[in-house]
Amino acid sequence: MEQERTLVLIKPDGVQRGLIGEIITRFERKGLKPVGLKLLTLSKDKAEELYSPHVGKFFYDYLVQFMTSNPIVALAVEGNDAIELVRMINGATKPMESAPGSIRGDFSIDITHNVVHASDSPENAERELRVLFDDGEILEYQRIDEAVLYGPDL
Ligand code: CMP
Repeated sequence: MEQERTLVLIKPDGVQRGLIGEIITRFERKGLKPVGLKLLTLSKDKAEELYSPHVGKFFYDYLVQFMTSNPIVALAVEGNDAIELVRMINGATKPMESAPGSIRGDFSIDITHNVVHASDSPENAERELRVLFDDGEILEYQRIDEAVLYGPDL
């Protein structure tokens, strides 16, 4: 287990549908610590930077258009194995594969309008966090429940 930091985005459909609180609650309840949080409208430049690994794919242009169409929430979270945990909480990208109980399994029916995004690797987490957060916007702090969440080092 390793303490990791990763990026979650609540996409325009999640914000428009009033799911901000519901979604953040799921990460908090799991024990993940919010270390950065903002509501913003993504610029075209930043959306293109974020989704640069998908340049050339048939869905890329619409994805950029959709992600810049309305406000999103950017959330940086930290915790043991945060990258994989967040992906599990979000659920699979394809609607038929996202398990009930996951965010996408519970709230999405379409592969593009799928409520949340999360980084898929340590390299992408670092890159994507830099796209969404400036220096000083990610905070380091101890949460009072950490000793209970993790127990002693064995
Ligand atoms: P996200 O986690 O934001 O990362 C890339 C996004 O591309 C993904 O969620 C989907 O919304 C979108 N995407 C991936 N595959 C497809 C596809 N086959 N058709 C349309 N959109 C897709």
